[in-house]
Amino acid sequence: MALYAIGDLHLHFQSELRAPSQLRDRVWRNHEETFRKNCERLLTPEDTLVLIGDHSWGKKLSECEKDLEYICGLPGRKILTRGNHDMFWDAKKTKQLNALYQPRLTFLQDSYESYQDYALVGTKGYTFEGPFWVDRRGRVVDWDEGEKAHADKLVERELVRLRTSFELAWADGYRKFIMFLHYPPTNILEQRSGFTDMAEEFGADQVIYAHCHGESRFHDSVQGVFRGRTYHLASGDFLRWQPLKVLP
Ligand SMILES: [Fe+2]
Ligand SMILES: [Fe+2]
Repeated sequence: MALYAIGDLHLHFQSELRAPSQLRDRVWRNHEETFRKNCERLLTPEDTLVLIGDHSWGKKLSECEKDLEYICGLPGRKILTRGNHDMFWDAKKTKQLNALYQPRLTFLQDSYESYQDYALVGTKGYTFEGPFWVDRRGRVVDWDEGEKAHADKLVERELVRLRTSFELAWADGYRKFIMFLHYPPTNILEQRSGFTDMAEEFGADQVIYAHCHGESRFHDSVQGVFRGRTYHLASGDFLRWQPLKVLP
């Protein structure tokens, strides 16, 4: 029995693929097949796989059904959280999605799932991604205040959702947590954030996030130990489609 995680499958069995990097970069070539084979090699039916957002390019559920069927066909128990591209998933309608796909898939939003004596908590998250202004040495010296104010609102909303997830688990007696985000937990300056603070407040053992694609983005946020918690990037292309083993 093991817990695995990965994000950013960006499936497109029923939708148009528009991302230039996904069309161009070698790591994305037949990635659905590579990932399926890796899962079949690594996971048993007793294992749990958390898919942390950007599941599909489809804009509505009718454009994602084949993508979700592909996920259903992977071994083990599958738990999904939201990414910024998951237009098919209205956070307020998570109950309906679960009604459609239970017991084959679990859509986690404003809730938690248990794994042994751990609670798996999470939300999409958010981080301000710029624009940043840099000096000639590439050091960030300023940023767009309007965009920053907008980002702060989205961060606040996501922090409320994350707290709901933690508090439900806490009320049920859980004291060990694995925290999942789609967005990185910090901005590119790797400053502490509401998300890193909450991981510390509840003592999350690990924080797993995705969203960062391509060599130039893989180090946009913290990896390894940061302020006493352990952070892992688990975007599919970073992991080369091999799910990250989070717990044995
Ligand atoms: Fe993505
Ligand atoms: Fe994303």
